[in-house]
Amino acid sequence: LRSQIYTYPPQPQRPVRRQDSVRVLIKFKIKYSKLVTILGIESSCDDTSAAVVRDGILLSNVIASQAVHEEYGGVVPELASRAHQQNIVPVVDAALRRAGIGKGDLSAIAFTRGPGLIGSLLVGTSFAKGMSLGLRIPIIDVNHLHGHVLAQFVRQNPDDRVPEFPYLCLLVSGGNSQIILVRSYNDMEILGRTIDDAAGEAFDKCAKVMGLPYPGGPHIDRLAAEGDATRFKFAKPHIPGYDYSFSGLKTSFLYTLRDGIKADPDFVEHNRADLAASLQRTIIDILTDKLAKAIDATGVRTVAIGGGVSANSGVRAAVADLCAKKGVEAFIPERKFTTDNAAMVAVAGYFKYLDKIFCPYDTAPYARVEI
Ligand code: KG4
Repeated sequence: LRSQIYTYPPQPQRPVRRQDSVRVLIKFKIKYSKLVTILGIESSCDDTSAAVVRDGILLSNVIASQAVHEEYGGVVPELASRAHQQNIVPVVDAALRRAGIGKGDLSAIAFTRGPGLIGSLLVGTSFAKGMSLGLRIPIIDVNHLHGHVLAQFVRQNPDDRVPEFPYLCLLVSGGNSQIILVRSYNDMEILGRTIDDAAGEAFDKCAKVMGLPYPGGPHIDRLAAEGDATRFKFAKPHIPGYDYSFSGLKTSFLYTLRDGIKADPDFVEHNRADLAASLQRTIIDILTDKLAKAIDATGVRTVAIGGGVSANSGVRAAVADLCAKKGVEAFIPERKFTTDNAAMVAVAGYFKYLDKIFCPYDTAPYARVEI
């Protein structure tokens, strides 16, 4: 792949103009290609991922995670960017091979434009532009948050169930906690969002003070399975509407540890599972209280979850229970599609392709953006 891309670089004789390159080629592709085949590229944080979706069905999804950050207790942006540069060519190559297609079969390339780490996003964005120029196919920018919401539509078989519009999506990740009303693939409204920290941050930061490795969410999940969730009480916020807040919970957790350690220096060691279970229970209660209100107010018939925190066993079970109680249908994605992945980017790109929403070559990545 490397030699194919770099041996034949695009050499436009004059500046590339949107009408010259993108529009004409888009018309050509849409008119003459029968199958819509989208390559998705995700590089917003510390996972380099590429996926291929053909006519809405996932053909491949390759993810290279970056172990380099573990010793720092969090993602180091510069290291993430460098690792993306090393990973992107082999990852895209593997995604095409696993999908059993060649570059020439692609209809368009979708890439995560943001939000995320700007140095990481630049790698995926630049790669997508370069490859699309070489192949003379359009590019599609994807909002990472749209991708998480549309992860529900990653179908591995034509008869896989997908949600019906409108539906509510609880989007919970390391950077976001939102309740989103999804009216269609490209029409979404945020009903509530966190006013400070995200649920994933609460998991990770509380795990850190317990001495657990980064990211702490999965460790809390594992420990919570053996703990007593009623053992410790932590503060819950009183915020109007559908907004969330997790900073008070973090402080309350910290004070519990501080007071506990005064009485018993090995407090954390002695109460690991109960602390994790009580913390997880509190986060789940905060998330589901607002979700329940939003279900009642909107009258939707379907609820979905997305984002890294939706991999949490407790969150998955609690949302399924809540939906059963409310008589609405629950969509809980497979765990591999909850954390960052290119399958969701390719699917979001596929729906934009069908609506003919492409982007010009001067599209720049953005670190922050709303849905
Ligand atoms: O969506 P994501 O992969 O990255 C972005 O933030 O975009 O989410 C990462 C977050 C981290 O905070 C991580 O601790 C959390 O998802 N997470 C979990 C679990 N798996 C991942 N939190 C709780 N339980 C889990 N099983």
